[in-house]
Parts: sequence; C-alpha cells; structure tokens
Amino acid sequence: MDLASLRKGLEQHRQSHLLQFWDDLSSENQKELYDDLSSIDLDRVCQYFGKATTGLSEAQTKSDERLEPVPEKVCGSTSRMSSDEHKQLFDSGLRLIAEGKVAALLLAGGQGTRLGVPYPKGMYNVQLPSGKTLYQLQAERLLKLQELAFKLTNRHGVIPWYIMTSEHTKDKTVKFFQEHSYFGLEADNVIVFEQHMLPCFTFEGQIILAGKHKVARAPDGNGGLYSALGSADVIADMRRRGVECMHAYCVDNILVKMADPVFVGFCHQRSADCGAKVVEKAFPTEAVGVVCQVDGHYEVVEYSEIALKTAELRREDGRLTFNAGNICNHYFTTDFIESIVTEHDSSLQHHVAKKKIPFVSDDGSITTPTTPNGIKMEKFVFDVFQFSKQFAVLEVLREDEFAPLKNGPGAAKDTPATCRSSLLNQHYRWVLAAGGKFMDSEGSVLPLIPARSSSMPHTTDIDCEVSPMASYAGEGLEELCANQVLTAPIQVVPGKIIKPECS
Ligand code: UD1
Repeated sequence: MDLASLRKGLEQHRQSHLLQFWDDLSSENQKELYDDLSSIDLDRVCQYFGKATTGLSEAQTKSDERLEPVPEKVCGSTSRMSSDEHKQLFDSGLRLIAEGKVAALLLAGGQGTRLGVPYPKGMYNVQLPSGKTLYQLQAERLLKLQELAFKLTNRHGVIPWYIMTSEHTKDKTVKFFQEHSYFGLEADNVIVFEQHMLPCFTFEGQIILAGKHKVARAPDGNGGLYSALGSADVIADMRRRGVECMHAYCVDNILVKMADPVFVGFCHQRSADCGAKVVEKAFPTEAVGVVCQVDGHYEVVEYSEIALKTAELRREDGRLTFNAGNICNHYFTTDFIESIVTEHDSSLQHHVAKKKIPFVSDDGSITTPTTPNGIKMEKFVFDVFQFSKQFAVLEVLREDEFAPLKNGPGAAKDTPATCRSSLLNQHYRWVLAAGGKFMDSEGSVLPLIPARSSSMPHTTDIDCEVSPMASYAGEGLEELCANQVLTAPIQVVPGKIIKPECS
C-alpha cells in the first residue's frame, strides 16, 4: 500500500476526509479502504461533479426557452393507424425477429429505492393469479414472440436478451434466472452484464463515506448503458449474432411489449437509427420525461428538469404542448449504439439526482438522513437521442403499454396493486375482444367496463390473466374464448382456460 501517494492525491482533490477514520481501522479494513479509494479515478469523478453541478441550472433555463414539440412527420400512432397497417408492421417486425436481427435490452441496474425491496425489481411479484414475477412475464413474452415469428416465417429466430444490472442487482438476478431455468429461454441467449458505479458527493463536492472504510457509491444511471456495453464487449456479441436493432426498456413496466414487432417494424420502415415509444402525458406534473426537440435535436427533458410553466403549456385544442410522455421504450440500431459507445459516450454529461445518502458521522455512527444530503450522478439512456440522424416516435395507448411499478404498496400511484389491475384489465379486454363473456357469481353478465358491484365491492379487477405463452398482445385467443361464458377467476394458458387453483 502506498498510503503517502493516496493521501497526496486525496489532498489535491480536497478529499482528505476519506481517511479520517484510518487510524481506528483494523489492518484488514485499512486494506479494503485503500483498495476502494485507489479504484477511484479522482480527476475524472471530480470533473464529472463539477460539470454536472454547474451544467444543471444552465441546462434547465436554456432548454426551457429552446424546447419544441416533436414534429408530426417523425410521429406515428398505434391508435390512429388502420388495422391493415398495424398488421403489416407487426408482421414486418416478426420477420426481422425470425431473421435473428432483433434483440431486447433490459435496463435493470436501478436500486429501486422508491419500491423499497432488498432485491431486484424484476423479481417482484405483484400477486397476479399466476404469481409470475416481472422477469418471468418478460421472459415468456420473448418465448411467445419467437414462436409467432416461427409460425409466420418457418424460421427459428432468437431474440437475445441483454440485461444490464449493477452491483445491487447482478448476483441476485443471475441466481434467480438460474433457479428458474431461465423460464424456458436458452441460458446462452440471456446475457447479463454490469454497469459501473460512481461515488456519491455532498452538495459541496466531498465524496461521502458510507462506512468508516467504505465509499458511498451508486450506479451511474441508465445511461451508464453505453460505457457498460463498451467494457463488457456486448456490441461484439451482437455483431456475432447478427443483431441489427434492439428494443431497450425499463424493468418496471408490467405491460411492456418486449421487442414489440409493431415498434420495431415502424422504426425499421422509417430507416430510423433511434426511436421512442411515448404515451400522451396525463397531466403537467406527471413524473414522466417528455420527448421533444431542443435546438433542433431530439431529447427527453426529464420530469425533474422541466420548468413547471413549460410543462403546463397547452395547445389551442387544450392538449399539453409537451405531451409526448417517455415510457422508457427505445429503439436503437446496432450501428447507432456502436457509434455512441465509440464516439459519443464520453461527451454525455451526468445529471444530478439529489438523494438521501446514508453516511458515517464524525463519531463513526451511520446516519440515514431524512432529507436529501447529497447527490448521485447519473447519465440518462435517452441522452443519445441528440445524435440521431433519423428519429422516429410511436405514440401508443397507455392502457395497453404503460403501467410502471415505482412505489410500494399503499402509495398513491404506480404500485403493485395498480400494476396488477392494469394487467388484469388488459387481459379482460383481450378475452372480450376474442368473443368471450364474463358472468358474476350471481349469474349476471358482467359489463364491458368493469365497475364495483355488490358481488365485488372491494375491487374493480376481474381476475382474468392470460399467460404470455397463450398470447403476446391479445392475438390468437378466439379459438379458446369465442362464445365462452366465463366466471372469474380464470387463467388462459396455451390451449385451455383454467381456474387458478388448478394451475
Ligand atoms: C424513467 C425515465 C423517464 C420516464 C419513466 C417512465 C430515465 C432516465 N427516465 O424515469 O423519462 O418517463 O422512466 O416510467 O430513463 N436503471 C438502471 N441503472 C441506473 C438507474 C436506473 O438500469 O443506474 C434502470 C432502472 O432499473 C429502470 C430504468 O432504468 O428499469 C428507469 O429507472 P427509474 O429510476 O425507475 O426511472 P424513472 O425516474 O422512473
């Protein structure tokens, strides 16, 4: 250990406090702290801090004046396209899948602090009748798509699933997939890699100690994707497999349409190098970013960075001016991603997230603050939109595609209960659209729009769950459901309708 030069480097960067407990530590803990501190490139992280904290206020005031909505010409909408067009896009996406050209890229490195569980969000079970977790639903959607692509083309295309994890989520995620035999996917086609971590800072620029011999660190944001792809050599794996484009998405959206053939087909048809799915933003303060243009470049202005007056602007027809709500569903070509990794990643700036970061006090005790005491520095996955030469935006219906799990039970929104409801309501609509009907326990046919009734006073959910293995997006259910009069709870699985207790 060269303690003298470590001490000197820390002094030069005004970080000497990181050794304040040195003399109290056992030699083992001294070694751990020494290794921890030596692994930090102080020049680089202090520069990130400087840029992120000075850039924040400038970026915000400038962007607000320079924002424009996305031009109509790059936009499409699933609710406004004809069913022929929809089918044609769906099939063209399936053909690309059959050719092995499409990958799914899951961003699952977040700490999930709002949800507050000690395991990765993807392992969360929102209490569906089947008990499936988010990871299982997603794995089964991929399996189903591969099957649909095969049915259409007679070719076995694989959708490789790249999963970005972090120190917080990697080991548990890998173990979970192993324990569940990858939910039927080939282990080789599930590629887990890890994003980097960055030290957390106080507002004044001091790195925070999480313990006497441990620096507080956090994942470097979902835009840490690009440096992680570079260091894990994931692009080479994509090239080897012939992947030409990918669908990147957040782990928490229970309705996510993985590798959605319509979205992939839409972006591909427009020769887009980069694209985003959006939903109409519900209200000005909704916690979603907005896809827009800043100085003629595509960007997402995050909900934490948009001024209220800008978020509240309305068009003549009363709709929000900035209404393209980001649902963290992005399309990238492999060429585009590679250009980001090799040319642009280093120029992407970190954003500042003010957080409550547990720290060690001067007396050596660990304190968990109740108000934000420091910052995490994060890159955002969509910060690369500015480099797109051909951008595409597809507006989709919220009730079909967006129900995120952000908060724990009992919160006002985006909870396990709201996710469960959104999924079951969607599946109820699928079964009705396929010609099924539902009866309550008293023999009355249930209305098309479920409402509270005497037999279901506590819930508006009708427990109807369709396995992704039976249908990816509502297709193919007619044979099983047409003219059936059903009583919830039911589960639709391949080839049959069952009562959950029989599953
Ligand atoms: C995100 C979007 C926001 C969008 C909203 C929709 C970003 C930066 N913001 O916000 O524009 O409207 O979803 O639900 O994308 N993650 C990592 N590594 C990290 C941090 C996060 O992989 O270091 C992953 C998370 O696991 C999650 C996703 O990124 O899958 C989104 O992270 P989260 O913090 O939940 O984003 P939001 O603030 O909800």
